Amino acid sequence: MNLYKYVSDAINEKLGFVANLETPRNREFGDFSTNAAMVGAKLAHKNPRELAAEILPKIQELDFVSSAEIAGPGFINIKIKDDFILKNASVPQPQKATVPLVVDMDYGAYNVAKSLHIGHLRTSIVGDTLNRIFRFMGHKTISYNHMGDWGRSMGMVIAWIKRIHPDWPFFQDDFDAGMDLSKYTFTASELNTFYPQASALARQDESFMEEAQIITAGLQRGNKGYNALYNIFMPISLKCMHDTIEKLNILPFDNDLGEKHAALYVGEVEKILRAKNLLQQSDGAEIISVKKDTDTAPMPPMMFYNSRGATTYDATDIAAVYYRKLNDNPNKIIYLTDSRQSLHFEQLFRVAELAGLFDVKNLEHIGYGTINGADGKPFKTRSGNAADLDDIIQVAIDAVRSRVASNNKQLDNDTINNIAIAALKFNDLMHDLRSDYIFDPESVTSFEGRTGPYVLYTAVRLNSVLNRSTITPQLNNIEISVDERNLLMAIMDFDKMIQSAYENRATDMIANYAYNLCQLINAFYHTCPILRDDIDIKTQQNRLYITKLARDTLVVATDLMGLKIPAKM
Ligand code: ARG
Repeated sequence: MNLYKYVSDAINEKLGFVANLETPRNREFGDFSTNAAMVGAKLAHKNPRELAAEILPKIQELDFVSSAEIAGPGFINIKIKDDFILKNASVPQPQKATVPLVVDMDYGAYNVAKSLHIGHLRTSIVGDTLNRIFRFMGHKTISYNHMGDWGRSMGMVIAWIKRIHPDWPFFQDDFDAGMDLSKYTFTASELNTFYPQASALARQDESFMEEAQIITAGLQRGNKGYNALYNIFMPISLKCMHDTIEKLNILPFDNDLGEKHAALYVGEVEKILRAKNLLQQSDGAEIISVKKDTDTAPMPPMMFYNSRGATTYDATDIAAVYYRKLNDNPNKIIYLTDSRQSLHFEQLFRVAELAGLFDVKNLEHIGYGTINGADGKPFKTRSGNAADLDDIIQVAIDAVRSRVASNNKQLDNDTINNIAIAALKFNDLMHDLRSDYIFDPESVTSFEGRTGPYVLYTAVRLNSVLNRSTITPQLNNIEISVDERNLLMAIMDFDKMIQSAYENRATDMIANYAYNLCQLINAFYHTCPILRDDIDIKTQQNRLYITKLARDTLVVATDLMGLKIPAKM
């Protein structure tokens, strides 16, 4: 049951006007607090404390209220009856939205032939949890891995391959796409070295950069050799992406459709832009001005075609809006990227508005902060490179492994991997997604404190109680202790929390909710013995009932974060 909504509705109905219900941080003086007297006093031109005294008996009459008192300038603090909480606490269920939306979600967005780096961690983890939250709230989401698979980096990779294998057929004038190409292949790790080497070279050697740009334009215009080569390395890269997605336990994308796919629609979009006179020539490139008179900050134009006639990141993003509208007709498109791309999305949304491609108030960009190292700068590996996602995962796995060994525990590799992934994910989710945070592998893998392993450990503990017990959990109408009450109350807070997490796109609320729930679970576990002979059967049944409710609620929360609960820890 959504207790908050139930209590709020009941008070409004009883009083005949809408007041605000608060959930105080410290619930010592009440589970809820209403400003009804203040609202009513305004309506009736009365003194709030006097009106509070009039309202108080009406609130006390409500059958779920155990006590109500006036506090401060006229707030009324309300305590809910224990048996009401016990009877009505239930496992949170996926909701039916009153107005179900179709939402296109653009996150992950990995780049072909570049290994996933730490920058992709948050878009993957937070994006996945946002996706799960939207689905839980009853909306339909369509997720897009809008891959970087068609821009200049493709030209750089091909130019690099040409440099190391100039004799390969792809680069010959008489290239025949029908020939057997099976011997021209790469391992994933080989492929991942090409782009960094090519971009290092391009920085020193202008002619190489020039060549990469010409190749990019050629690739996009259908050059057979380049495209055949592209079709060899693209699937290798895609497989790496899928492996990482699986490792991170994030939902598979509904669409692995990136810039290349969007480019198919660039021509149609160009017509729209021309008809609206939005394309301007600029040094051989075609640009779209998005400046408004009211702008105070610089607002550069978007580039639709560069001076070599190649389609740009900007153009494919505009075309992707067009395609999604055409194909999904979503109510909203949400993009999740590093906040350093905020300007790009501001420009994109302006173009969408100018060209009439999409209702601009339903285009939403969520920019997340950077993951930093102890020095406060973007996290790097010891070699000084932006850390690869796989390196980060390995660092977390190593930290968990050594912790497990020093605690003299024996856990299999799968379990250790699971714990490490949970540690990474939970740590990412618990921070406000819009802020930067410092990543410290030691502390995030701790089994105590606000960490993923602590949450998993708590779930494992509940599972173990439930598995060991031969008694059937049963709700008995008996007195409950403070720790039982607090736990049930937290279970009932879930619905309000998820609503707020959804509205505010605040994935940290789920992580922090799970952590608080675990703390209450552990307090309950310590003060409320269950499977002990000196505890009467009714109490045992009741406590098992609460244990099960808590476990199932925790599972809902961990599922939303995509954490896997191990069998043993
Ligand atoms: N591939 C880009 C990157 O790694 C992110 C793409 C985000 N999505 C988009 N529609 N632009 O930075």
